[in-house]
Amino acid sequence: MSQTWWRGAAIYQVYLRSFADGNGDGIGDLAGLRSRLPYLKDLGIDAIWLNPWYPSPMADGGYDVADYRGIEPVFGTLAEAETFIEEAHELDIKVIIDVVPNHSSTASTWFQEALTDRGARDRFWFRDEPNDWQSIFGGPAWTQVADGQWYLHLFAPEQPDFNWDNPEVHREFEDVLRFWFERGVDGFRIDSAALLFKSDTSYEDLDEVHEVYRRWREVADEYGDRVLIGEVWLPDQERFTRYLRPDELHTAFNFDFLACPWEPAELRRVIDLTLTTHAPVGAPPTWVLSNHDVTRPVTRYGRADTAFAHGGRLHGVPSDPELGHRRARAAALLAMALPGSVYVYQGEELGLPEVEDLPDDQRQDPMYHRSGGTNRGRDGCRVPLPWAGDEPPFGFGGSSTWLPQPEGWRKVTAEAQSADLGSMLNLYRTALAHRRDLLGDGTLTWLTMGPDVLAFTRESGLTCVSNLGAAPVPLPPGRVLLTSGPLEDGALPSDTTVWLTSLA
Ligand code: NOJ
Ligand code: CA
Repeated sequence: MSQTWWRGAAIYQVYLRSFADGNGDGIGDLAGLRSRLPYLKDLGIDAIWLNPWYPSPMADGGYDVADYRGIEPVFGTLAEAETFIEEAHELDIKVIIDVVPNHSSTASTWFQEALTDRGARDRFWFRDEPNDWQSIFGGPAWTQVADGQWYLHLFAPEQPDFNWDNPEVHREFEDVLRFWFERGVDGFRIDSAALLFKSDTSYEDLDEVHEVYRRWREVADEYGDRVLIGEVWLPDQERFTRYLRPDELHTAFNFDFLACPWEPAELRRVIDLTLTTHAPVGAPPTWVLSNHDVTRPVTRYGRADTAFAHGGRLHGVPSDPELGHRRARAAALLAMALPGSVYVYQGEELGLPEVEDLPDDQRQDPMYHRSGGTNRGRDGCRVPLPWAGDEPPFGFGGSSTWLPQPEGWRKVTAEAQSADLGSMLNLYRTALAHRRDLLGDGTLTWLTMGPDVLAFTRESGLTCVSNLGAAPVPLPPGRVLLTSGPLEDGALPSDTTVWLTSLA
C-alpha cells in the first residue's frame, strides 16, 4: 500500500466487546477478532479501527482508560495485541487504535494519586468550587471528592478530564503514541479531539489544541505512513477543517454526512460543503454512515425523520424495515463512491437494525443512566454480532452475550448472508472490491439529472447515480456495474443507487 493509503481507504470499525468472543465468556476479545480476520479480508477493507482496548473498568465501554500502555485482560494481552497487528499486516490490513486524550479513568494511577495527594492534582481539573457545566452524558460535570474539592468530567464521573495546561500531560501522550507506533499500529483515532483545553467559559475548540496536533503530526511523521484521525464534532465546517491543515491531523470523521437526512437537496448540500471545505487544506473527506455512538442506518432511514441527532435519538419511533434497508443499501453505494475514505461500522455490512427493545436493566451505556433513562443511549447499536446458526448467541462464541441478541437475527448472520447473493453482506463485498480499483481518493464531477437525483462521475469513469425521488429515472449512458436494488424496466427506481462504468 502507498504512503498515502489512508486518503482513499475503506476502514472497518471493530467494537471489540461485540465483534467475536474467542474464550466463551460472552464478551468479544482479541482471540475472536483474530479468528475473524479472514472474514474482514474477504470483505475487502484496507484497515481496521478498534475502539479502546486498554485496561478499563468499562464505565463507558473502554473510553475510561486506566492504562494507556496495556490491554484490557478481558480482551487479551499485550503480546496478543502485537500478534494481532502482525497478522493483520500479513493480510495487508492496517491497524488503527483509539487514543483518549481528553479524559482518563478514576482507576488510573494518576487519578488515584491525585485522590490521596492534593499536590498531585494538577494533571486533572480540581477546583474548590464547581462551575455550572453539565456533563455531555447528563447531570453535573463536576464530582466532589472526600476532602471537599471537585473534579471536572465532561463525560461520566468515572472519566476525569486531563489538564492540558500541564506539560506533563503533553509528554505522556506523545510517549503513548510512540509506544503504540513502535508496536506497529498504523494510526490513531483521536477521541473527543476538540475538547482538550478549557477556559473559564468554554471547553470546545480552543485554539491551543492545534499546537498539540502539530506536535503529534511530527511524531507520526517520524514513523512514516501513519495516520491521525480526529473525532471532531463541530457545527462550523471552517473551524472543523482547521484540524486538517497540512501539519495537523490527516483526516476527521464527517459527522455532517452521518447526521444528514435521506433527502437529495440536503445530501447534495452536505457533500458540496464537505468537498469545498476540505479542498483548501488538501485533506481527503471521509464518509461515515454509522458508528458505535449512533442509531443504526437501517433503522434511521426507515423513519419519517431520517436525520440523526444525539439528543433526540428517536428511540422507539416507528421505522419501516423494508424501506430502511433499501435506503441503507443505496446510501452505502453513495458513500463508497464519494472521493475520500469510507468507514464501515461492524454490523453495517450485515444491515443490522438498532436493537430498541433491550431490557432496561441490561442497558450499560452511561448516557442512558445519567439521563435518567430519557435518552435510551447507545447500547442498541452495540449488540454482539450474529455470525452463524439459528439461535443466540449466533456463533458469537460461548453460550451467552453481554447484551442480548434478538431471536430473529437468524436471517442476518454472516453465514446466512454469505449464501445469499442479494444480501447486504454481498453488496458490501462486491462494492468494496470495485471501490478498490475505481474509487477512493480524488474528485467528482456532478451530472445534472433533476432535483431528486444525486449523480456524479469519478476520474476512473465510474458514474454513481442515487435516485431519492418517488418515480424511476432513466439511466445515463454506461454499463451497469452494480445496483443497490433491482432496476425497473431498465430505469433506476426510488431509493436505489447504481454504479455504471463508461461504455468503452
Ligand atoms: C466519543 C466516543 O465515540 C464515545 O463512545 C465516548 O463515550 C465519548 N467520546 C467519551 O469518550
Ligand atoms: Ca471473551
